[in-house]
Amino acid sequence: MPKLTFLPDGVTIEAAPGTSILDAGQRAGVKIGSACGGVCACSTCHVWVKQGLASLSEQEDRELDILDKAFEVKPTSRLSCQAEVGAEDLVVEITPESRQTYFDEHPAERRALAAAEGEP
Ligand code: FES
Repeated sequence: MPKLTFLPDGVTIEAAPGTSILDAGQRAGVKIGSACGGVCACSTCHVWVKQGLASLSEQEDRELDILDKAFEVKPTSRLSCQAEVGAEDLVVEITPESRQTYFDEHPAERRALAAAEGEP
């Protein structure tokens, strides 16, 4: 099965082809935003695909429309809830916007991270 590496944390997992990047990441406990629950309505699951972009499922018009709402959209940008794993290994960077959404949705984890980093 293809391997997925999530940056900036460096978590690597395996995922079956056809699995969305979001589903794979959430199963592995990766900190990735998903305000709409993965129904292509929010852009908070925005990632930059650093390796394996061409192997992902094709972008539909709906994804492109929603991606327009994201910050720092690049040619390597995908909505992780819509991008399905193909046959190749992937390296995916979770955008700061997406991580912020994750911590907004999980305030206890945000406080624990701040405490671990020595913030008051
Ligand atoms: S989780 Fe909302 S668009 Fe992907």
